[in-house]
Amino acid sequence: MKAPLGTLAADAFLQDYWQRRPLLIRQAFPEFQPELDIDDIAGLACEEMAESRLVSGRFPQHDWRVRYGPFRERELAALPERDWTLLVQDVEKHYPPLRALLERFAFLPRWRVDDLMVSVAAPGGSVGPHVDQYDVFLLQAQGRRRWQIAERFAPELRADCELNVLQSFEPEQEWTLGPGDMLYLPPGVAHHGVALDTGMTWSIGMRAPSAADLFQAFGEWLAEHRGEGARYTDPSRPARGDTAEIDGRAIVRFRELAAGELAADGPFTAFLGQFLSRYRLAHEPAPPENPVDEAALRAALSAGAVLRQNPWTRMLWIRFDSQVAVFAAGKRYACHEETAVRVCDPQRLAEVTEPVPEPAVFCALLNDGHLYLERGS
Ligand code: SIN
Ligand code: CO
Repeated sequence: MKAPLGTLAADAFLQDYWQRRPLLIRQAFPEFQPELDIDDIAGLACEEMAESRLVSGRFPQHDWRVRYGPFRERELAALPERDWTLLVQDVEKHYPPLRALLERFAFLPRWRVDDLMVSVAAPGGSVGPHVDQYDVFLLQAQGRRRWQIAERFAPELRADCELNVLQSFEPEQEWTLGPGDMLYLPPGVAHHGVALDTGMTWSIGMRAPSAADLFQAFGEWLAEHRGEGARYTDPSRPARGDTAEIDGRAIVRFRELAAGELAADGPFTAFLGQFLSRYRLAHEPAPPENPVDEAALRAALSAGAVLRQNPWTRMLWIRFDSQVAVFAAGKRYACHEETAVRVCDPQRLAEVTEPVPEPAVFCALLNDGHLYLERGS
């Protein structure tokens, strides 16, 4: 599938722009027709299960106000004509056909793509000049939006507001984006997008775990899977020094203790499979009403049913020496590489027909709620 990078090849983008420099791609999605409209997004913002925010305010007045969803329809209908933005996260999970849009970013590892956030803005709507810690592709889906960016800027944030808004902002570059245009921003670039008309921006946000996220999750994983891992030891320690001092040797031993856990190949790799196959929001998959056995799976596929991934399950696979395992929302399933590749790719998964290879793996994934069968029409 062609990457939505205009005339730029994915390799050239990765080499010259990814994580390095902003890039404006005019008509990245030529004649883009959003599959969801403003009313659909407003409807989602009224649902309990969707994470939504309403930001109003202006720059440089800094009269920001943030409210969190779910909202009431009446509340949204009564919004003023200008200066607000309604943002909804994880839209592709609430509306799975939009996962096809994220598949266009397959030139990046699947686990790197976090979610599709949709913002609906009235003229003047903005979330203020700010900096994100992750890469983002800002696709203009409807209406026009003016984006201003700065690679050098004063990092001070406005203290009196819940949003991470920069106190001051001097743009270095500016563009007006129309439907189908897309702006790529690496982390750490200050940006400020103001809606010129009522419109929608679709943000394809990347995931970049912090060291704190990684260590917290790894600590939890160690406690759960390996007892407590190794323990501090200090054979042949000299009897000297102040007893209250945590001395340099102890610090080195602690570093070695931590490094030993990270270096243990199999366990750390298995941890990564579990960690990266989970979304930011943990969502317990619901098992099917009736467990599926191999005969039922065969019968369903023969009758034209199609296998689909649970949109809240992230599926990845890892090679361990001579073996392969699929990780689905943190759970591990041993299988052959061919099966792993198939179940992780929504399109290839949908093409699975009888005879099913490794039916037990498919049944396990179905019965744990990571896959489901969509009845054929
Ligand atoms: C927006 O769509 O209003 C904000 C997106 C962003 O700045 O990351
Ligand atoms: Co941003």
